[in-house]
Amino acid sequence: MPPEIDTTVAHPARRYDYWLGGKDNYPADRESGDTIADLFPTIRITAMENRRFMCRAVDYLTRQVGIRQFLDIGTGIPTSPNAHEVAQSIAPASRVVYVDNDPIVLVHARALLTSSPEGATAYLDADLRETDKILRHPDLLELLDLREPVALMLVAVLHFVKDADDPYGAVAQLVAAMPPGSYLVISHATNDHMPPATAAAVDAADNARRVPFQFRTREQFARFLDGLELLPPGIVSVSEWRADHEPQPRPSVEDTAVYGAVARI
Ligand SMILES: C[S@@+](CC[C@H](N)C(=O)[O-])C[C@H]1O[C@@H](n2cnc3c(N)ncnc32)[C@H](O)[C@@H]1O
Repeated sequence: MPPEIDTTVAHPARRYDYWLGGKDNYPADRESGDTIADLFPTIRITAMENRRFMCRAVDYLTRQVGIRQFLDIGTGIPTSPNAHEVAQSIAPASRVVYVDNDPIVLVHARALLTSSPEGATAYLDADLRETDKILRHPDLLELLDLREPVALMLVAVLHFVKDADDPYGAVAQLVAAMPPGSYLVISHATNDHMPPATAAAVDAADNARRVPFQFRTREQFARFLDGLELLPPGIVSVSEWRADHEPQPRPSVEDTAVYGAVARI
C-alpha cells in the first residue's frame, strides 16, 4: 500500500465502493458508510442509481448523439461497467480520459486501462480544481481531439468541493475548454427533500471525518449549467433521467437525494 494512502480515515471513493457492494474498502470507510446509512437509510439506492445514471448518460451520448470522446473527472474506484466499457460496447473506437485525485483510485487505475483495441483510455492523477493541469496534460492531448465534441463528466464529485474552493469557477473553465457540440454530464447530492436535522447530521458526520462535503439546492446545482442547453428531461433525480427501460417504479428524489442532468455546451 503506498504510504500516502491512509486506510484509517474514511474516504469518499472507498465509502462509495462500500455502498455499491465493492470490496475495496476498510473498516473506517464502512463505519462512516454505516453512520450515513443510519441517518439516510436509502444511501445504497443513491449510490446504485447514481452509477446507473452515469451508464445511461454515456449510452445515450454514444448511441444517440454520436459522442466518441469522454473526460470523466472524479472517476471513483473502478466498478464495472466503467464509462469506457459502456461507450466501447456501442462504439469500440471511443476514447476515455479518467481523472481522480485519490491515490487509492490510482492504485486501481489498471482496471480503467482495459480499452478495446480500436479505442483508448488514460488515467490522470489530478484534482478537478487543477483545470490547467488536466487540460494541458500530454496524455489528455494525445487521446482527445479538442476540436471534436467531448462529453465532460462530473458525476457525484462536485459535492466534494466546497464553495470556498470555487467549484463554479473550475466547472466554467472546463466547460470553456470543450469544443462546441460537447456535453456536460453532471450529478450532485442535494438536501432539498431532506429533513433539516438529517441534512445537518450528514454534514456533521462528513466534516467530522475531514471529508469535505457540501449539499447544494436545485438552484445551486442549476448554476453549474448556466448558459448551457439542458437536454430533456432537464434536472431530475438521477433515478429518473431517461429511465423508461429501468425497473419501475423508480426511486424518488427523496430516496436518492441526487440531481442529475445532461446539457449541450
Ligand atoms: C462518489 S465517487 C463518484 C464516482 C463516479 N463518478 C460515479 O459517479 O460513479 C466521487 C469520486 O470523486 C473523487 N473526488 C473527490 N474530490 C475530487 C477532486 N477535487 N478532484 C478529483 N476527484 C475528486 C473521489 O476521489 C471519488 O473517487
